[in-house]
Amino acid sequence: MKKEKPTNKLANNSPKRKKKDANPISGGKIRELELSITNKCNLNCLGCGFNIPKQVTPVNGQRIDEHIKSLELLKSCGVKVEKIIISGGEASLSRNLNKYLVDILKVGISEQIEIVTNGLYPKGINRETLANLDSLIISDYVMTEEFEGTWRQYIKALNYKGKIEFRRKTAWDDLLSEVKNKPEQTRHHWSTCFYRKYDVTLERGRLFSCSRIAKKKWDEQGLLINSETSLSDVYSYLTSKVPRDACYSCATIGNNSNIPVAVQTRNNIERIILKAEQYMRECL
Ligand SMILES: C[S@@+](CC[C@H](N)C(=O)[O-])C[C@H]1O[C@@H](n2cnc3c(N)ncnc32)[C@H](O)[C@@H]1O
Ligand code: SF4
Repeated sequence: MKKEKPTNKLANNSPKRKKKDANPISGGKIRELELSITNKCNLNCLGCGFNIPKQVTPVNGQRIDEHIKSLELLKSCGVKVEKIIISGGEASLSRNLNKYLVDILKVGISEQIEIVTNGLYPKGINRETLANLDSLIISDYVMTEEFEGTWRQYIKALNYKGKIEFRRKTAWDDLLSEVKNKPEQTRHHWSTCFYRKYDVTLERGRLFSCSRIAKKKWDEQGLLINSETSLSDVYSYLTSKVPRDACYSCATIGNNSNIPVAVQTRNNIERIILKAEQYMRECL
Protein backbone atom coordinates (compact mmCIF):
# COMPACT_ATOMS: atom_id res chain seq x y z
CA MET A 1 0.00 0.00 0.00
CA LYS A 2 1.39 3.32 -1.07
CA LYS A 3 1.51 5.99 1.62
CA GLU A 4 0.62 9.40 0.29
CA LYS A 5 2.67 12.46 1.13
CA PRO A 6 0.95 14.18 4.02
CA THR A 7 0.72 17.91 4.32
CA ASN A 8 0.67 20.23 7.26
CA LYS A 9 -0.39 23.59 5.95
CA LEU A 10 -2.81 24.05 8.82
CA ALA A 11 -0.37 24.00 11.74
CA ASN A 12 -0.34 27.31 13.58
CA ASN A 13 3.34 27.87 12.88
CA SER A 14 3.71 26.00 9.63
CA PRO A 15 5.82 28.13 7.29
CA LYS A 16 3.32 27.02 4.62
CA ARG A 17 0.44 28.74 6.41
CA LYS A 18 -0.48 32.11 5.01
CA LYS A 19 -1.13 34.23 8.08
CA LYS A 20 -4.42 36.01 7.78
CA ASP A 21 -6.35 38.16 10.21
CA ALA A 22 -8.14 36.06 12.80
CA ASN A 23 -11.67 37.37 12.35
CA PRO A 24 -13.82 34.69 13.96
CA ILE A 25 -17.07 36.66 13.69
CA SER A 26 -18.42 39.05 11.11
CA GLY A 27 -21.93 40.24 10.33
CA GLY A 28 -23.03 38.52 13.57
CA LYS A 29 -21.88 35.18 12.18
CA ILE A 30 -19.28 32.95 13.80
CA ARG A 31 -17.28 31.29 11.05
CA GLU A 32 -16.85 27.87 12.70
CA LEU A 33 -18.12 26.74 16.08
CA GLU A 34 -16.80 23.52 17.55
CA LEU A 35 -18.96 21.34 19.80
CA SER A 36 -17.58 18.21 21.43
CA ILE A 37 -20.25 15.65 22.10
CA THR A 38 -18.06 13.17 23.93
CA ASN A 39 -14.67 13.08 25.60
CA LYS A 40 -14.16 9.40 24.77
CA CYS A 41 -11.98 8.16 21.92
CA ASN A 42 -11.06 4.80 20.40
CA LEU A 43 -7.48 5.98 19.79
CA ASN A 44 -4.85 7.04 22.27
CA CYS A 45 -2.75 9.53 20.31
CA LEU A 46 0.30 10.49 22.32
CA GLY A 47 0.36 14.10 21.11
CA CYS A 48 -3.38 14.63 20.79
CA GLY A 49 -3.96 18.32 21.38
CA PHE A 50 -7.13 17.47 23.21
CA ASN A 51 -5.30 15.27 25.67
CA ILE A 52 -7.47 12.23 25.22
CA PRO A 53 -8.09 10.09 27.30
CA LYS A 54 -7.74 12.68 30.06
CA GLN A 55 -10.04 15.04 28.22
CA VAL A 56 -12.46 17.01 30.35
CA THR A 57 -16.17 16.60 29.83
CA PRO A 58 -17.55 19.06 27.24
CA VAL A 59 -20.77 19.55 29.23
CA ASN A 60 -21.37 19.93 32.93
CA GLY A 61 -24.04 17.22 32.92
CA GLN A 62 -24.14 13.88 31.15
CA ARG A 63 -25.97 14.82 27.97
CA ILE A 64 -25.67 17.60 25.44
CA ASP A 65 -28.87 19.46 26.38
CA GLU A 66 -26.55 22.10 27.78
CA HIS A 67 -25.03 22.68 24.31
CA ILE A 68 -28.55 23.04 22.90
CA LYS A 69 -29.46 25.56 25.59
CA SER A 70 -26.29 27.58 24.87
CA LEU A 71 -26.99 27.53 21.13
CA GLU A 72 -30.55 28.74 21.74
CA LEU A 73 -29.28 31.56 23.95
CA LEU A 74 -26.72 32.56 21.33
CA LYS A 75 -29.38 32.53 18.64
CA SER A 76 -31.74 34.65 20.69
CA CYS A 77 -29.10 37.33 21.13
CA GLY A 78 -28.58 37.48 17.36
CA VAL A 79 -25.57 35.21 16.82
CA LYS A 80 -25.47 33.12 13.64
CA VAL A 81 -23.01 30.37 12.78
CA GLU A 82 -21.68 29.47 9.36
CA LYS A 83 -20.67 25.94 10.32
CA ILE A 84 -20.99 23.85 13.46
CA ILE A 85 -18.20 21.31 13.77
CA ILE A 86 -19.03 18.19 15.77
CA SER A 87 -15.90 16.86 17.39
CA GLY A 88 -14.79 15.03 20.51
CA GLY A 89 -13.27 12.77 21.67
CA GLU A 90 -14.50 10.65 18.82
CA ALA A 91 -18.03 11.68 17.87
CA SER A 92 -18.82 8.42 16.06
CA LEU A 93 -18.62 6.57 19.38
CA SER A 94 -21.65 8.44 20.70
CA ARG A 95 -24.75 6.25 20.57
CA ASN A 96 -26.82 9.45 20.47
CA LEU A 97 -24.97 11.06 17.58
CA ASN A 98 -27.98 11.09 15.23
CA LYS A 99 -30.31 12.51 17.88
CA TYR A 100 -27.74 15.17 18.72
CA LEU A 101 -27.41 16.18 15.07
CA VAL A 102 -31.17 16.54 14.76
CA ASP A 103 -31.39 18.52 18.02
CA ILE A 104 -28.58 20.85 16.95
CA LEU A 105 -30.09 21.38 13.50
CA LYS A 106 -33.47 22.15 15.09
CA VAL A 107 -31.98 25.16 16.88
CA GLY A 108 -31.56 26.70 13.42
CA ILE A 109 -28.50 28.78 14.28
CA SER A 110 -26.09 27.24 11.78
CA GLU A 111 -26.01 27.11 8.00
CA GLN A 112 -23.94 23.94 7.91
CA ILE A 113 -22.98 21.02 10.08
CA GLU A 114 -19.79 18.97 9.87
CA ILE A 115 -18.32 16.00 11.70
CA VAL A 116 -14.59 15.57 12.28
CA THR A 117 -13.82 11.91 12.85
CA ASN A 118 -10.84 9.59 12.77
CA GLY A 119 -12.96 7.36 10.50
CA LEU A 120 -12.13 4.29 12.55
CA TYR A 121 -15.62 3.57 13.82
CA PRO A 122 -17.67 3.77 10.61
CA LYS A 123 -20.53 1.93 12.28
CA GLY A 124 -21.19 5.17 14.17
CA ILE A 125 -21.47 7.16 10.92
CA ASN A 126 -24.48 5.52 9.33
CA ARG A 127 -26.99 6.47 6.62
CA GLU A 128 -28.99 8.60 9.04
CA THR A 129 -25.89 10.46 10.23
CA LEU A 130 -24.78 11.17 6.68
CA ALA A 131 -28.24 12.40 5.66
CA ASN A 132 -27.91 15.22 8.18
CA LEU A 133 -24.35 16.28 7.31
CA ASP A 134 -23.02 18.96 5.01
CA SER A 135 -19.45 17.79 5.36
CA LEU A 136 -17.47 14.91 6.73
CA ILE A 137 -13.83 15.38 7.64
CA ILE A 138 -11.77 12.25 8.11
CA SER A 139 -8.62 12.98 10.10
CA ASP A 140 -6.74 10.38 8.12
CA TYR A 141 -4.15 8.68 10.30
CA VAL A 142 -4.08 5.60 8.02
CA MET A 143 -3.18 7.42 4.80
CA THR A 144 -3.54 4.56 2.37
CA GLU A 145 -5.39 4.53 -0.91
CA GLU A 146 -7.27 1.50 0.39
CA PHE A 147 -8.62 3.26 3.49
CA GLU A 148 -9.68 6.34 1.55
CA GLY A 149 -11.14 4.24 -1.27
CA THR A 150 -13.16 2.11 1.14
CA TRP A 151 -14.56 5.22 2.82
CA ARG A 152 -15.51 6.69 -0.53
CA GLN A 153 -17.34 3.51 -1.52
CA TYR A 154 -19.01 3.31 1.90
CA ILE A 155 -20.47 6.82 1.75
CA LYS A 156 -21.54 6.28 -1.85
CA ALA A 157 -23.36 3.12 -0.85
CA LEU A 158 -25.10 5.11 1.89
CA ASN A 159 -26.12 7.75 -0.63
CA TYR A 160 -24.13 10.58 0.98
CA LYS A 161 -24.32 13.77 -1.05
CA GLY A 162 -22.24 16.12 1.11
CA LYS A 163 -18.54 16.98 1.06
CA ILE A 164 -15.81 14.65 2.25
CA GLU A 165 -12.21 15.57 2.96
CA PHE A 166 -9.31 13.44 4.13
CA ARG A 167 -7.21 15.63 6.40
CA ARG A 168 -3.60 14.58 6.65
CA LYS A 169 -0.91 16.21 8.68
CA THR A 170 2.78 15.61 9.18
CA ALA A 171 2.86 17.14 12.62
CA TRP A 172 0.54 18.38 15.27
CA ASP A 173 0.74 21.67 17.07
CA ASP A 174 1.91 21.49 20.61
CA LEU A 175 -1.30 22.29 22.43
CA LEU A 176 -0.30 20.34 25.51
CA SER A 177 2.84 21.75 27.03
CA GLU A 178 3.01 25.22 28.43
CA VAL A 179 5.68 27.83 27.76
CA LYS A 180 6.32 31.44 28.65
CA ASN A 181 5.74 33.67 25.62
CA LYS A 182 6.91 37.25 25.41
CA PRO A 183 3.97 39.70 25.70
CA GLU A 184 4.78 41.47 22.42
CA GLN A 185 5.09 38.20 20.50
CA THR A 186 1.84 36.94 22.04
CA ARG A 187 -0.09 40.08 21.03
CA HIS A 188 1.33 39.84 17.52
CA HIS A 189 0.38 36.17 17.17
CA TRP A 190 -3.13 36.72 18.57
CA SER A 191 -4.07 38.81 15.53
CA THR A 192 -3.50 35.89 13.13
CA CYS A 193 -3.90 32.81 15.31
CA PHE A 194 -5.29 29.95 13.22
CA TYR A 195 -7.23 28.44 16.13
CA ARG A 196 -8.77 31.73 17.09
CA LYS A 197 -10.16 32.03 13.57
CA TYR A 198 -11.30 28.45 12.97
CA ASP A 199 -11.65 26.87 16.37
CA VAL A 200 -14.11 28.92 18.44
CA THR A 201 -15.46 26.35 20.87
CA LEU A 202 -18.58 25.93 22.96
CA GLU A 203 -18.16 23.87 26.12
CA ARG A 204 -19.80 23.78 29.54
CA GLY A 205 -22.08 26.70 28.67
CA ARG A 206 -19.19 28.95 27.64
CA LEU A 207 -17.73 30.27 24.44
CA PHE A 208 -13.95 29.94 24.10
CA SER A 209 -11.58 31.62 21.68
CA CYS A 210 -10.09 28.22 20.88
CA SER A 211 -10.41 24.59 21.89
CA ARG A 212 -7.07 24.60 23.74
CA ILE A 213 -8.56 26.91 26.37
CA ALA A 214 -11.74 24.80 26.59
CA LYS A 215 -9.88 21.51 26.78
CA LYS A 216 -7.58 22.85 29.49
CA LYS A 217 -10.80 23.65 31.38
CA TRP A 218 -9.76 27.26 31.86
CA ASP A 219 -13.44 28.12 32.09
CA GLU A 220 -12.85 31.55 33.59
CA GLN A 221 -11.24 32.53 30.25
CA GLY A 222 -14.42 31.68 28.35
CA LEU A 223 -17.54 33.80 27.96
CA LEU A 224 -20.44 32.52 30.05
CA ILE A 225 -23.55 32.30 27.87
CA ASN A 226 -26.76 33.08 29.74
CA SER A 227 -29.96 35.05 29.28
CA GLU A 228 -28.06 38.30 29.90
CA THR A 229 -25.53 37.68 27.10
CA SER A 230 -25.78 40.12 24.21
CA LEU A 231 -24.37 40.11 20.69
CA SER A 232 -21.99 42.86 21.72
CA ASP A 233 -20.68 40.66 24.58
CA VAL A 234 -19.94 37.94 22.03
CA TYR A 235 -18.22 40.47 19.75
CA SER A 236 -16.15 41.96 22.56
CA TYR A 237 -15.04 38.51 23.64
CA LEU A 238 -14.16 37.15 20.19
CA THR A 239 -12.71 40.29 18.65
CA SER A 240 -10.84 41.50 21.71
CA LYS A 241 -7.49 43.12 20.86
CA VAL A 242 -6.06 41.58 24.00
CA PRO A 243 -4.97 37.93 23.96
CA ARG A 244 -6.43 35.52 26.48
CA ASP A 245 -4.25 34.66 29.48
CA ALA A 246 -3.91 31.18 27.93
CA CYS A 247 -2.07 32.62 24.92
CA TYR A 248 0.87 33.70 27.07
CA SER A 249 1.61 30.05 27.74
CA CYS A 250 0.58 28.64 24.34
CA ALA A 251 3.32 26.56 22.74
CA THR A 252 1.97 27.13 19.24
CA ILE A 253 3.41 30.64 19.37
CA GLY A 254 6.81 30.93 17.77
CA ASN A 255 7.56 27.22 17.82
CA ASN A 256 7.58 24.83 14.93
CA SER A 257 5.78 21.71 15.94
CA ASN A 258 7.49 18.35 15.76
CA ILE A 259 4.82 16.30 17.44
CA PRO A 260 4.24 13.21 15.30
CA VAL A 261 0.65 12.53 14.35
CA ALA A 262 -1.34 9.66 15.85
CA VAL A 263 1.50 7.81 17.59
CA GLN A 264 -0.38 5.43 19.86
CA THR A 265 0.20 4.67 23.51
CA ARG A 266 -1.48 1.28 22.90
CA ASN A 267 -0.67 -1.16 20.13
CA ASN A 268 -4.20 -1.83 18.89
CA ILE A 269 -4.48 0.64 16.00
CA GLU A 270 -3.83 -1.96 13.27
CA ARG A 271 -6.68 -4.08 14.63
CA ILE A 272 -8.97 -1.02 14.80
CA ILE A 273 -8.13 -0.14 11.17
CA LEU A 274 -8.77 -3.70 9.98
CA LYS A 275 -12.11 -3.83 11.78
CA ALA A 276 -13.17 -0.46 10.33
CA GLU A 277 -12.27 -1.46 6.79
CA GLN A 278 -13.95 -4.84 7.20
CA TYR A 279 -17.15 -3.22 8.51
CA MET A 280 -17.34 -0.84 5.56
CA ARG A 281 -16.69 -3.62 3.02
CA GLU A 282 -19.48 -5.70 4.54
CA CYS A 283 -21.87 -2.78 4.03
CA LEU A 284 -21.11 -2.50 0.30
C1 LIG B 1 -8.63 15.90 18.48
S1 LIG B 1 -9.42 15.34 17.06
C2 LIG B 1 -11.03 14.94 17.65
C3 LIG B 1 -11.90 14.40 16.55
C4 LIG B 1 -11.59 12.98 16.07
N1 LIG B 1 -11.38 12.04 17.11
C5 LIG B 1 -10.43 12.99 15.09
O1 LIG B 1 -9.43 12.31 15.32
O2 LIG B 1 -10.58 13.68 14.09
C6 LIG B 1 -9.83 16.79 16.11
C7 LIG B 1 -8.74 17.19 15.15
O3 LIG B 1 -7.66 17.69 15.87
C8 LIG B 1 -6.47 17.24 15.29
N2 LIG B 1 -5.47 17.33 16.33
C9 LIG B 1 -5.29 16.61 17.41
N3 LIG B 1 -4.27 17.04 18.13
C10 LIG B 1 -3.80 18.11 17.48
C11 LIG B 1 -2.74 19.02 17.71
N4 LIG B 1 -1.98 18.88 18.76
N5 LIG B 1 -2.52 20.00 16.80
C12 LIG B 1 -3.30 20.11 15.71
N6 LIG B 1 -4.31 19.30 15.44
C13 LIG B 1 -4.55 18.32 16.32
C14 LIG B 1 -6.81 15.85 14.81
O4 LIG B 1 -5.99 15.40 13.78
C15 LIG B 1 -8.21 16.07 14.29
O5 LIG B 1 -8.17 16.49 12.95
S1 SF4 C 1 -4.37 29.79 23.36
FE1 SF4 C 1 -4.37 31.73 22.18
S2 SF4 C 1 -2.58 31.60 20.85
FE2 SF4 C 1 -2.99 29.51 21.60
S3 SF4 C 1 -4.26 28.57 20.03
FE3 SF4 C 1 -5.64 29.49 21.56
S4 SF4 C 1 -6.12 31.57 20.79
FE4 SF4 C 1 -4.31 30.82 19.68
